[in-house]
Amino acid sequence: MQIAPSLLSCDFAKMGEEIVRMDKAGADYMHLDVMDGNFVPNISFGAPIIKAVRKHTSVPFDVHLMIDKPFDYIDDFVGAGADIITFHVESSSDIRATIDKIKAANVKAGLVIKPNTPAEAVFPYLDDIYMVLIMTVEPGFGGQSFMADMMPKVRCIKDEAQNRGLKILIEADGGINEATILQTAQAGVDIAVSGTGVFKAPDPKQAIDNLKALSKGAV
Ligand code: DX5
Ligand code: ZN
Repeated sequence: MQIAPSLLSCDFAKMGEEIVRMDKAGADYMHLDVMDGNFVPNISFGAPIIKAVRKHTSVPFDVHLMIDKPFDYIDDFVGAGADIITFHVESSSDIRATIDKIKAANVKAGLVIKPNTPAEAVFPYLDDIYMVLIMTVEPGFGGQSFMADMMPKVRCIKDEAQNRGLKILIEADGGINEATILQTAQAGVDIAVSGTGVFKAPDPKQAIDNLKALSKGAV
């Protein structure tokens, strides 16, 4: 299991230092939650902030766009240094055109599904994407409770990918901590996002090590 700390739970006044802290703690990705106050009822940060903190680490930036028109902002997030850009299948942009725009910039593209969206919603695009991000909370806020009933979506997407001879990474996001990580591992999740679970822990390295060890209980 790879761990992607969500910077939404960091101290925004020290975001560069927080990224260094997560790098030293063993983060596999930095998960950056972009919210526009429209697609979700919250506003976080945008491309200029991501660009400003990008130089603090070489760990890949996993940028999760919770915005209504991702197509219009792809260039900004590519320019900010995103390595993976995921956007919602429920957004208003043309999904295929947005995937193509991300890939044309040599950045990995992924689709995100909200809890009420079925796994099958990503099937038309599976051949063209690197990752599917399954929300295990309603997007918009950190610190919510993990929705275990989202886990069957993982197998559903992995089976479909396997049938087509594709390798798709599955990421899960929301409410993942020491109490819930085993369920994600057992379901077949490859990358777990954790915000409060890592940032509110007294020692983030210990928190990441614990998450990884607990996820191995599944094997
Ligand atoms: C929610 C965000 C998540 C969130 C996770 O909309 O996409 O990445 O920050 O935070 P926790 O781990 O606290 O649920
Ligand atoms: Zn996220």
